[in-house]
Amino acid sequence: MKVLIVGSGGREHALAWKLNKSKKVKKIFATPGNPGIAQVGTCVNILATDIPGLVRFAEEKKIDLTVIGPEVPLAIGIVDEFTKRGMKIFGPNKNASRIEADKSFARDFMYRFGIPSPRFWAYESVSEALKYCKLINKFPVVIKTSGLAGGKGTFIVNTRKEYEKIVDEILVQHRFGEAGKRIVVEEFLTGQEASIFVLTDGITVTYLPSSQDHKKLYERNRGPNTGGMGAYAPYPTNRRVTNIIEQVIIRPTILSLRDQGIDYKGVLYAGIILTSLGPKVLEFNCRFGDPEAQAIFPIIESDLSDLLLAVAEGRLSEIQVKTRNQWSICVVLASAGYPFDYHIGEEIQFKEKLDSKTIVFHAGTKTEDSKLLTASGRVLNVVTTHENLKIAKQKVYEEIKKIHFNGMFYRKDIGNSGMKKMKRKRRK
Ligand code: GLY
Repeated sequence: MKVLIVGSGGREHALAWKLNKSKKVKKIFATPGNPGIAQVGTCVNILATDIPGLVRFAEEKKIDLTVIGPEVPLAIGIVDEFTKRGMKIFGPNKNASRIEADKSFARDFMYRFGIPSPRFWAYESVSEALKYCKLINKFPVVIKTSGLAGGKGTFIVNTRKEYEKIVDEILVQHRFGEAGKRIVVEEFLTGQEASIFVLTDGITVTYLPSSQDHKKLYERNRGPNTGGMGAYAPYPTNRRVTNIIEQVIIRPTILSLRDQGIDYKGVLYAGIILTSLGPKVLEFNCRFGDPEAQAIFPIIESDLSDLLLAVAEGRLSEIQVKTRNQWSICVVLASAGYPFDYHIGEEIQFKEKLDSKTIVFHAGTKTEDSKLLTASGRVLNVVTTHENLKIAKQKVYEEIKKIHFNGMFYRKDIGNSGMKKMKRKRRK
């Protein structure tokens, strides 16, 4: 098989790394890719949003399967264009991608089909949004742009003043352009968060390992939100919670999508919050999580090309997913200043050889004069696996000490919440 991966971050490197392990995959291309992906494939400088360019490239190279990493190409209809031409592609079409790309559609959908989720209100009108503000009797609340805002369109607001300021920025100043034409105001929920991943061809549903992302910048979930500072997998839910998630969230979602004539094929990523009233959906995404993918692929035994192709061809029922009985920890190494203004162009050095089992995914790097340099806020993702979560954690942090770039920082507590949960489970 010749495979094309669209995207350029750590998630796409993890896809390339896992697909490269398949005996069936003979050649990997990535557009635009990154220096890490270049170790296992050929990177070609076509943007992930250049759909005509990607169609031309895939036709010319006779690509057997195209795999989409990020949400934007899905939301603008790359799958529709490939499918129209009879080319195989992994990911949902434009209509189905609204589950992530249009948050007010997604919340309406969850409400109509009784999928547990926070209470919400959607507004396009400034005066209506401000009228509602006067009625709020409990802060914080969450304000989101309805459209895609590159992970920057979610705000937790603590006072009426903050609410008015965010509404002004989004609906009056148009800070997010079209993506902020409408806002969704949601009830703020508390609890542990888990990322649930299922593959579906619209009929069959297959679970991949779950994971937990660490979105806050600092240890113990403090500080500003980021694109994710690390993840571990699997997330240790008990059978009761797993059954509830299956029965009241995943199954009704897949059935209701089909019932509405929405042809959802790809991965459905449910961001779940485990509240005292049970699991609720914080968000649905139409692609793999980043950095969760970097944690889950190393503990999947099955050939990923078999799984992704079966989804694209609508025959997922023929395939079983095998996972390893292991834990995986992924720690994000970030540039000083991230997630705000950060400096790039620092040389990345490997001071000692890493253990052969340690995996380093490139999230934001570039090569210049045969030097590896930082090129983004999130730079590298270091991943270790082990049967014991504590050992996986010790190992990942030992390995990180061998890597250096000026300003490099990372969270030191990735995996702690999993260890705590396991301890509680053992005590019961
Ligand atoms: N891990 C968060 C995301 O991929 O959206």
